[in-house]
Amino acid sequence: MSDPAEKSHEVANPEMPLVHAVNVMKSFHDNQVLKGIDMDVHKGQVICLLGPSGSGKTTFLRCINQLETIDGGRIWVDGELMGYKDRDGTLYRLDNKAIAAQRREIGMVFQRFNLFPHKTTLENIMEAPMQVKGEKKAQARERANALLARVGLLDKPYAYPSQLSGGQQQRVAIARAMAMSPKLMLFDEPTSALDPELVGEVLAVMRELAKEGTTMIVVTHEMSFAREVADRVVFMDGGVVVEQGDPKSVIDNPQHPRTKSFLHRIEAKPQAVEHVPESLEEAILAEQRLQELPEEHYLQGDE
Ligand SMILES: Nc1ncnc2c1ncn2[C@@H]1O[C@H](COP(=O)(O)OP(=O)(O)OP(=O)(O)O)[C@@H](O)[C@H]1O
Ligand SMILES: [Mg+2]
Repeated sequence: MSDPAEKSHEVANPEMPLVHAVNVMKSFHDNQVLKGIDMDVHKGQVICLLGPSGSGKTTFLRCINQLETIDGGRIWVDGELMGYKDRDGTLYRLDNKAIAAQRREIGMVFQRFNLFPHKTTLENIMEAPMQVKGEKKAQARERANALLARVGLLDKPYAYPSQLSGGQQQRVAIARAMAMSPKLMLFDEPTSALDPELVGEVLAVMRELAKEGTTMIVVTHEMSFAREVADRVVFMDGGVVVEQGDPKSVIDNPQHPRTKSFLHRIEAKPQAVEHVPESLEEAILAEQRLQELPEEHYLQGDE
């Protein structure tokens, strides 16, 4: 891929944001899915990516960590050009080993908790640090336990995924991604496959990560999370960024008709949480209270 016109963008500099995406393009056959995405994410920022189905949100995340090649533009993460080497304006694809090394710096949590089914919680979390980074077992275990404490699962080290709720599995998935000490966390609709009462506990963990300064790009339809936790909301449609800005202004006062109609549709649907719990303890208590309520109580509450 060669694009001399972009030469001025090439050199990484210390001022560069943690994620610096310029004019990213991606097609699948003749379907152009990303039509020139620009995005800057500074260290410690939380960006929420919103947009209708098919707008290219997942594809963009997959381009950032090079699960997809790109057809145009450039993406830097922490000053490193992702997936390519630049020689005088011509890009050459890096070999698989170099790409794997770049990918290691980025944690990803998907909609479906894809834990290893035959490994326990602890084994799931310890696997990559030991296999990929060559960490000693004792050290990996110590870190895994610290992560389990952070995601509120110290009591489940030996449980298999099938013995955990969806919310617990997703918290293990977050701990597993964090075990590699990533520079950047990508979340692709991490709560959309969960029963509504389990959403709060996962969002609470994500809120904690944000408070601790984790840089995150989060695709989500949970507007309370976007409103309360994001530093910036980016609305994509048809492979372009249509509108972005401070969450309250974009969500409460969208300017573009496409943003307006999307938010209208989203907000007409019941949201899993009205408010992101301040802590995991608060989320779990709320969940337990919900489970203790007799069924008729729910029905009355819905009226
Ligand atoms: N591997 C692929 N091969 C061919 N087309 C693909 C592939 N991956 C995605 N697409 C197409 O790219 C477009 C954008 O898909 P993408 O999954 O990025 O959208 P999205 O915004 O994440 O949508 P959703 O909200 O449904 O998850 C869609 O038209 C999809 O069919
Ligand atoms: Mg998607």
